[in-house]
Amino acid sequence: MNISNTADNPSGLPGNPGDYFATVIDSVGDGVIVVGTDGTITLYNPAAEEITGFSRRQALGSAFEKLFSLETTLLEMVSKTIRTGITISDHENVVVRNTGRITPVAVTCYPLMRSTGENIGAILTLKDITYIRELEAAVRQADRLSTLGTLAAGLAHEVKNPLGGIKGAAQLLERELTVDSDLREYTRVMIRETDRIDRIIRELLDLASPRGLKLSPVNLHKVLGDILLLQKEAVAGRDITFVKQFDPSIPDILADEEMVTRLLLNLIRNAIDAMGDSGSLTVVSRVLSDYHMAQNERRSRMVAIEVCDDGPGIPPEDLENIWTPFFSKKSGGTGLGLTICHKIVAEHRGMIKVESDQGHGTKFTVLLPLIQ
Ligand SMILES: Nc1ncnc2c1ncn2[C@@H]1O[C@H](COP(=O)(O)OP(=O)(O)OP(=O)(O)O)[C@@H](O)[C@H]1O
Ligand SMILES: [Mg+2]
Repeated sequence: MNISNTADNPSGLPGNPGDYFATVIDSVGDGVIVVGTDGTITLYNPAAEEITGFSRRQALGSAFEKLFSLETTLLEMVSKTIRTGITISDHENVVVRNTGRITPVAVTCYPLMRSTGENIGAILTLKDITYIRELEAAVRQADRLSTLGTLAAGLAHEVKNPLGGIKGAAQLLERELTVDSDLREYTRVMIRETDRIDRIIRELLDLASPRGLKLSPVNLHKVLGDILLLQKEAVAGRDITFVKQFDPSIPDILADEEMVTRLLLNLIRNAIDAMGDSGSLTVVSRVLSDYHMAQNERRSRMVAIEVCDDGPGIPPEDLENIWTPFFSKKSGGTGLGLTICHKIVAEHRGMIKVESDQGHGTKFTVLLPLIQ
């Protein structure tokens, strides 16, 4: 291979063929790496630099085996293609590790052959599939939630009627008891607990049936301010501070105010629950100027709201389950809070994500479009 990597041909037409081919390779959005039969890297395009974190200067002339010593699958693919002259693809299992970042990649390794059929190396193409993986995960999550939602709704219907019967009977029983009867304590528990089940069922049914959004301009800072004011009373006696970092330039967003309130209240309550007797809860709002989401044909700017706590964090093995209905680690929790949050955000065509650092805290980020 003798292709110059400093191609510069303003017309874009083949002048010096070497320059022209180098420009073509440099313009490919997928990483392209060429390895000679002796294992030396002879070509490295900018997309390969981006994906692997190695610069062209570092890579050219280096031994592929040394540079990618951690990526055994890649090493095997290259050595097999050089040995046998066959093309190998792997779109599932390959990742490239770069300081602090792991990029999933779809890789194909082609033999580099002269017209005589002589095998003179291997061409690797690397496609960054981070985005595809994220989408796959989101679809899996949505599938799981919708199956569970349907199941739960069926169950809720079945339970609702007998529950009404139990509560009615308990109320009748209470009426029969004298005012000072010790048994009143039991009927009170029965009524209170049936009310609790009834509330869970209503939430479940709500979750399973799309209600449609009642859109109006919503002042997020007012919603957050009201929630924090009320929660201040709820944490009275505990050493918990609330920090507001609001971006004053955020305009009203078009959203369903009741649902957005429920969403933020759930997140803030979870944060407060997590912190126990002391801690600091920070709520941040920002407009994301460079982040758009395609809405039908329109594109809408997004606002981000972060709810951060310095509680114990969420163990990594729980992170995937927290959105699942009934996943709760609290004695009185129903485990529906985050499932509801997920649904509200999805109905607003937004995004919700969680980052948690065990022992240090948790940050939930909600992205909502300014308009629907
Ligand atoms: N900020 C947080 N810090 C630590 N753990 C959290 C946090 N938020 C959620 N969790 C974990 O996720 C679980 C699920 O949360 P979710 O809000 O869905 O249910 P819940 O709070 O347990 O019950 P509820 O239905 O009353 O909200 C919680 O039980 C908790 O273990
Ligand atoms: Mg909750």
